[in-house]
Amino acid sequence: MLAGYDHLLAAARRLQWDAEAIDLSADRVGGDALITDLVAGFLVAESAVAQELDPWIAAAGDPAARECFAVQQRDERRHARFFERVADEVLGERPAARPEIVELFARTLPATARALAADTGTLGEAVGLYHLVIEGIVFAVGQEALLSLAVQRGLRGVADGVARVQADERWHVGLGVLQLQRLSVTIDVSDHAAAAMAVWGPDVATPERVEHSLAAHARRLKIAGVESAP
Ligand SMILES: [Fe+2]
Ligand SMILES: [Fe+2]
Repeated sequence: MLAGYDHLLAAARRLQWDAEAIDLSADRVGGDALITDLVAGFLVAESAVAQELDPWIAAAGDPAARECFAVQQRDERRHARFFERVADEVLGERPAARPEIVELFARTLPATARALAADTGTLGEAVGLYHLVIEGIVFAVGQEALLSLAVQRGLRGVADGVARVQADERWHVGLGVLQLQRLSVTIDVSDHAAAAMAVWGPDVATPERVEHSLAAHARRLKIAGVESAP
């Protein structure tokens, strides 16, 4: 059974949290290349998804769908703020992201947003990139990696915040799946693994993490009847 807009908005209300309230005071990390890469990636990615979401809000015909996208945008701003705090207070720097991250979030996503702003008929394609590929796979793989590294290193505040981001992203992906179902768009999940591996690199996007995220993704798509891949 696929959740409707009311169910998603109820989940969003239940999950609200404050990025300023996460206690990062005991978390310190230096010289960990994987954590630095992940935080650098999420710094660019979360701020881009927050900034680029307006055309999705405008293209959603249903007022309830529009409200969901608008609530999602507030979540994305909170995520961006949380990763800024992690960079400033835990890493002590704002590291540069991998070129593959910059390509996806500073070029591909804005180009898709512009296309959607010009033609709302591209909403299915735009939701496919934003909610299914970026949030459903690329973010899911990165969050899983960062959460497990944070737990291993005893970074309790980072782990707390990433777990909250992860919970928010689940309903965002649910919103995307609901949109695709309503638009009768099907998605081929087989391309998504390559996207996640390319963006994060093989040390973060390990085959196990990619498999795990793809399996969860395929289950959601199958329930909604929007999966076309075998
Ligand atoms: Fe986010
Ligand atoms: Fe999101």
